Parts: sequence; C-alpha cells; structure tokens
Amino acid sequence: MNETIKRHISDNKQNFAWDSMTMGVCYYPEHWSEDLWAADLTRMKDTGISVIRIGEFAWNKIEPAENEYDFSFFDRFLDLCSQKEMKVIFCTPTATPPAWLTEAHEETLNARMDGVLYRHGCRKHYNYNSPVYLNYCRNIVEKSASHYGSHPAIIGWQIDNELNCEVREFYSDADDLAFRLFVQEKYETLDALNAAWGAVFWNQTYTDWNQVHLPRPVPAEGINPHRKLDYYRFIAQSAFRFCKMQADIIRQYRKPGDFITTNGMFPYIDNHRMQKECLDLYTYDSYPNFAFGLGTDPQNDPLNDRWNSKNQNEVRSICPHYGIMEQQSGAGGWANRMEGPAPRPGQLTLWALQSVAHGADFISFFRWRTCPFGTEIYWHGILDYDNRDNRKLREVKDFYQKFRALEPVCQADYVASFGLLKDYDNVWDMDTDIWHNRIASHSENEIFAGAELANLPYDIIYLRENSALSDLTGYPVLLYPHPVIMNKERAALLTAYVKQGGTLILGCRSGLKNENGICEMLPQPGLLQELTGTDIRDFTYTSPAEEAVYADWNGTRLPMPVFNDILTPLPGTQVLARYTGSYYAGEAALTERHTGQGRVLHLGSAFSRETLPKLLSYAGAVSPFTGLIEADGKDVELTLRRKGDKNFLFVLNFHASEVSYTLLKPMHSLFTGKEVSGPQTLPAFGAAVYEV
Ligand code: GAL
Repeated sequence: MNETIKRHISDNKQNFAWDSMTMGVCYYPEHWSEDLWAADLTRMKDTGISVIRIGEFAWNKIEPAENEYDFSFFDRFLDLCSQKEMKVIFCTPTATPPAWLTEAHEETLNARMDGVLYRHGCRKHYNYNSPVYLNYCRNIVEKSASHYGSHPAIIGWQIDNELNCEVREFYSDADDLAFRLFVQEKYETLDALNAAWGAVFWNQTYTDWNQVHLPRPVPAEGINPHRKLDYYRFIAQSAFRFCKMQADIIRQYRKPGDFITTNGMFPYIDNHRMQKECLDLYTYDSYPNFAFGLGTDPQNDPLNDRWNSKNQNEVRSICPHYGIMEQQSGAGGWANRMEGPAPRPGQLTLWALQSVAHGADFISFFRWRTCPFGTEIYWHGILDYDNRDNRKLREVKDFYQKFRALEPVCQADYVASFGLLKDYDNVWDMDTDIWHNRIASHSENEIFAGAELANLPYDIIYLRENSALSDLTGYPVLLYPHPVIMNKERAALLTAYVKQGGTLILGCRSGLKNENGICEMLPQPGLLQELTGTDIRDFTYTSPAEEAVYADWNGTRLPMPVFNDILTPLPGTQVLARYTGSYYAGEAALTERHTGQGRVLHLGSAFSRETLPKLLSYAGAVSPFTGLIEADGKDVELTLRRKGDKNFLFVLNFHASEVSYTLLKPMHSLFTGKEVSGPQTLPAFGAAVYEV
C-alpha cells in the first residue's frame, strides 16, 4: 500500500445527491482500439454526455498476472478523460475474476446446487465466501483505489457489477462452511437450530454442527422451508459483507465528495442495509423491455413497459434520489438467449423520462456502442457496429435537450398518495413458500396495476429492525398486503401507527407465521388480531372448479381472488363487505376496526386492480393530481415531483398511438417553454413535464 497517497478522508459514508441533471454512458475502453478513444469521448461530449462508467469487467487490464500490476492502460484513458473534461465512475472489477486466478484456485468459483462448479467463461463465476477470493478482491480494490483514487477525472466508484445478477444462489464449499458459521452464530445451540427449522419433521434433527449444510439436492425439491429462509438471509449477508469490504477500502482513498455506489436490483440482497452502511448513492439498471413478461397479459395489458415503474418505486425506497447506471438504449439480447425488439422512435426518451419521473437525477445509457464480439453481441447500445450516426444517437441528443429543461426538477421529491409496506422476511419467504408466493405476487402486480390505472402513485417503505413511527406517519394510508410473517415489534409499530391516526389496510394470510416461517398456533391473524378485530376460523384457496368469488360492498362488487380468509368480526369490528359466493357466502370479507385515532381495514383475499382504488378512496388516500390534470390511467402514467412550493407533473404515454388529457389549470411546459392549459395531446411514446 502506498502510504503517501493513502487518504483517510472519512470513516463515515456520505449521502450523495446530484446537483444537476447529469447524462452518462457505459463505456468499455478495453473493447476498442485506443485510436477510437479520443473521437468517442469528443462525440460523447457533443451528445451531452458528461460522465462515463468504466472498468467493471477489466481486472486483467490492471493485474494481467498474479501480483503483476500495470496501471498504464487506465492511466492513459483517465488522463484523456481529464483532457476532454469527461467525468468517470470507476468500477471495481470483481464481477469477473481472471482466468489466471480461477484456474489456480478452484475454490473461488461458485457451484450449482449439485456441486458442479461454474467455470471461467461467462461472468459472476465467483462465490462471496472463499477467503482466497476475498483476499484477491481486497488486493485488487486496494490497488485500484490507491492508484486511481486521486485522479481528477473520477467522481465516483461502483462496487462490482449487479451483485446477485446471473446467479443468486451459492453452493460452493466455502459457502457451505460460511452458512454453518452463520447459523451457529444465529442460533448458538443445535437445539435452538432444530427448533427454528422444525427439524423434528421428517427426522431432520441435527446432532452435530458438521451435519448442517446449505440446501442440497433433495427428493421432490422439498427442502425444509425454514432452512431455505435462513439460506436467503445468509446470501444477503454474504453479499453485504462483500460490498462493505470493498466500500471500506475505497473510502480510504477516494477524493472528498466522490461517491460509492453499486448497481441493482437483484434478489436476496438487503439493499436498504447496503445503502445505509456502505453506499452513498444507489443506482439502478433500467431495462423496460424486461418488464413485458411481468404483466398478466403482455399482449393486451395497457401497462406494457410501464411495469418497469414498479421496480423504480422499489429503488426509490432505497435511495430517494437515485441514479440510473444502465438505461436501455437499444435492443437487448445475448448470443444464446433473449431476442428483443429495438426501442421504437421515442421509446428511448420515454424510458429515460420514466426513470426521471420516479426520482432519478442521473441517466447513464447502456452502452455507447454495441460490442461486436462476446456473449452480448446483440445487446445493442446507442451506436451500432458500423459506428455511424444513427437514430438512437439523434434521440439521445434530443433527450439531452429535454433533460436540460428538467434542471429545476433535480432533487425534487416524488409525491405519493399512499405507502406500501414491505419487509425482507416476507419478500424472501415468498421464495420458500409457494402458497405465500401465489398470493403475494398476485397482489403485488395487481396493486401496481390498480395504482397506475387509477393514477394513485405510491412509495414503498421497508420495515426494518430499527424502523420508527416517524417513518410511517407521513403516510395517512398504508397498505401492508400480506405480512404472512409477523413479529411483536412490527405489530407494535403498526398499532402505534394506527393509534396516532393512520389507516392500515391488510390482506389475507396476515400474521400467519413467525420469523422462522413457522405457523403460529394462534387464532388468525395471530399477532395482528387485536388490531384487525377479526378472527379467522376457516380459509381456502379459491377453487378453480368454482366460479370466481366476489364480495358485496354496499352494492359494489369486489373480486376476492386467489385465497379467502373467512373473517369473523370480533365485538367492535364493523363488516363492510360480505362474500357472495362459495360455501361461505354471507360471511365477512372486508372489515373495519377503529383503534385510537385510526383504523384497520382487513380484506379477506388477495388484492385486485378493481378493489385497490375503492379501498384507497374509502381509506381517504388523496391523489396528488387532483385539480391539476384529468387523465385516464390507461392512457398515461402520471407522476409528480415536488421541490419547495414547485410541483413538476410528468405525463408519459407508453402507447404507440396519440393520447389526450386535460390540464385543469395553466402550467408551464418545460419542454416547449409555453404556458398551457385545457385539452392536450401526446404523440406515440410522447412525454410532457409541467411546472405548476
Ligand atoms: C446488465 C449488466 C451489463 C450488461 C447489460 C446487458 O445486467 O450490468 O453488464 O450485461 O445488463 O445485458
């Protein structure tokens, strides 16, 4: 380590926010002849690009052989960036360990569940727990950060690339050992472990710690669900430690003000902890084409690529003013999978504005030019192989003009009409429990669709160990769709929220399990019973053999999809709606109970897009668009960002045809500079932003 340049800037992380709308691109100097660099950088600057991200897969360019370092490649490139006044986000290259390393140290590789190692040849072939790999990573991060950390072109650091992308399960010997230590630390005794995992069932009782392993192949894939839940927690802890180890090193060498980030978002990661303890900024990789598959019917669903906004709500919960590290600019595809259409004219701009509308102040496109070789030959960037100007480059230039006009929006806050509660216990339990999954994923999609179609934007709030009442009181209405896992602390927090005047909406199967995923031997909804004032004595999946089940709410028909808790109101609880079908017709389907200044609405089923706006309106959720705009949620997505007394209204058209809406008061169009009001139209894939 070079002590002369080692700078102990700060032991504490900082919070980073862009002070100006910033456009960037992902660039791979190692993919191109050096003759192209200067022209590329000049052309980027001409396009409006002022930041590039580099280096995330380029370990060999710094350490071509073990303990042989050559910093000259990136020195040359970074100096050129300084010359061209291009700012750089420099990455740690740990997502692709070199062949010289993995060949010498098989133990650094990840393995499939059946033990077969993932070999060199793609990316993400490492495991988080090999002490040997961790040493190599510590070393390359230290070498990179100490050498490049003071370079004036650098403004931030990205750790690895997309933690848990490609593979999110780890079965190497190192992981197996680390998992044993993880549960040993957590449970201390085998008795406690056996109890937490219900190990007496099917004679899984452990009598020696050496018998405790990661999930392994078992008949019928019927792995113990409690063990699996701990396994997902273990992966999240491994990823966190890996990230923290790198962040701690970079923090010693970065210049004051330079940020540390990583780009997400993938399963089995506690992004909130990572953001809180390691990162200054969270960045998201936004590929709206992937969103097609998410909706219930990609052909006919009016939301189409608007489904990508669902993820952006999640990202905002991690970091309110996030960045987009990779914003899709071309058709997606690998040589061996995925065939994607090219973004239609206008779509590239629309997708970037979708990110801005949800809270991003930094948009970096993926990637400057499509790579003519390698697995991603069909993952198209802005420029194509021929390197000529094309319609995508023209559109990025045009987006830049729009982005400039959005300068007043920078650091403005997203305005929500209600809060959606989540927590990692339940998110991960969904992947151990198919019942939980079927109910909760249905609701998650329908809540998003219902909120979009009714123009009721929402924030996501993750409940954590240290969540405080003040995290919740800003939301008059909270929806916690299916907290299947519940604990005393969360139940107490929810009670405090309701008592001080909040309205809490809960769905079926709430309070069913404890933190180990073991069903509570209590009348349901378990720890929440006092709050809901309901008793569940009978419950069932809705039967595919029967007609769909509905409930009647004062003459309004509510779908009651997927699963039905048959509610018995306890004294003091009011029945709002009753089932109209199946063997429980006439029983309570939706109830209301007042506690303190607030109340709880308990719905006996999963949520549907039809039910959501009715429940929210009854609960008193207020639309931020009232008095501003009249628009059909099927036609446009609306979002509002607010800074001081200034509101910025985003109207986004995801359709391939013109749409219309009405502005209810005069507003300033940021793209045209004109004062407008009354009926307006947006062309196919068009967008408008108004200051009001
Ligand atoms: C992201 C990744 C990039 C590139 C891109 C297109 O997941 O970070 O490196 O692979 O997708 O596939």
